Amino acid sequence: MKTVKLGIAGLGHVGCGLIELVERQTELRLPGKVEIVGVSARSRNRNRPVDISNYRWFDDAATLAEDPEVDVFVELMGGSDGPAKFAVEEAIKFKKHVVTANKALIAMHGQSLERQAQAAGVDLMFEAAVAGGVPIVRVLRDSLTGVSVTRVAGILNGTCNYLTTQMLETGRSYDAVLEEAQKLGYAEADPTLDVSGMDAAHKAAILASIAFTADLDFSKVSVKGVETVELMDLNLADRLGLRIKLIAEGVLTDEGVVCRVAPMAMKTSHPLARVNGALNTVRVEGDPLGAVTLTGPGAGAGPTASAVMGDIAKLFSPTARSPFGRAAHHKARTFVAGKSDERSAFFLRAKLADRPGALASLSEALAAHGVSIDKLLQDSADDSDVSPVAIVTHECSRGDIDAASDRLAALETIVGAPQVIQIDAAE
Ligand code: HSE
Repeated sequence: MKTVKLGIAGLGHVGCGLIELVERQTELRLPGKVEIVGVSARSRNRNRPVDISNYRWFDDAATLAEDPEVDVFVELMGGSDGPAKFAVEEAIKFKKHVVTANKALIAMHGQSLERQAQAAGVDLMFEAAVAGGVPIVRVLRDSLTGVSVTRVAGILNGTCNYLTTQMLETGRSYDAVLEEAQKLGYAEADPTLDVSGMDAAHKAAILASIAFTADLDFSKVSVKGVETVELMDLNLADRLGLRIKLIAEGVLTDEGVVCRVAPMAMKTSHPLARVNGALNTVRVEGDPLGAVTLTGPGAGAGPTASAVMGDIAKLFSPTARSPFGRAAHHKARTFVAGKSDERSAFFLRAKLADRPGALASLSEALAAHGVSIDKLLQDSADDSDVSPVAIVTHECSRGDIDAASDRLAALETIVGAPQVIQIDAAE
């Protein structure tokens, strides 16, 4: 193809970013020309940073996907089901290539869409769905095919990383920083997807599926977000030489692929501790490679639009190959749930009632479950007579620390539920 004709559905931050990029394409290094045939979004008249009046307007994304002029349907609407899924399936049915930034759609329906695309002989590409401007999908799928991957892990949600970084650096509240992340175009239309860990889980599941030739099974992915992380946790952890970040990973175990997302604490010397703001980072470990790490802007209009454009550029020479890079002779794995007997050190924060014996009741509850204290930090009580205590434990099992935390939550001397965050031992 010398010219690739796009139908763009979804004109939020990324859709508008893509239009801007198409309009200044002479600065890029595309193999040919990109034209916009038509656009579609929920509202035609919304205030946008780009002028869309020169493009054909479609009220309905699926009608745009079916339009005979369209070579490539670009889906930037979001949502795992509903109009986005319907329009993508229509596009494939009408033998259009599909480029999408929709991680929820790919994580929930990736293999079904893969089968439909392969049967129709079209390409389905989703570089922008994982880690925004960081080109990890193609690197994992293509460049690292010579590596037997054992772990793929990193920071996959820019909003959460921005939250934990900015709260600590500026002392601002969770709500204030989240509002800023929304204004900056990092957060999803529904930011609950970010802070619940769901967005990072979608991305981790996609990477794990590619890395381990595993059929996506999102029901096995364990997901914990940053909603319960307080400024107090970040500050106390900092004074104990730790940073707290939302970490996503897929690990190959004897039982299968374990995929999970949770806040993790790590020493300030840990490589991930220095990945701040809306940056994402992905480390791929495997044999005989060792490890490779890619870091860059994981959210925002420009970086994500550049990843969409990178996929479009590949479609000047379509290949109709498996979007996940799979072939029948590859060793197939399955997703499995993680185990609770994993041993680790943990960061535990509790709010103590400021009265005699409160600290003793805390250490007794930990001792009852065999959890031993490595470091302890207690602050003076605040106006409501609540005194924050942070502990770094010696190594213990996840099951033991969870049981100790439940016991603490039931004590009269402890206010609210304690915070328990695993510490990543890597230096
Ligand atoms: N809301 C996402 C994030 C955008 O914060 O990382 C990129 O997928």
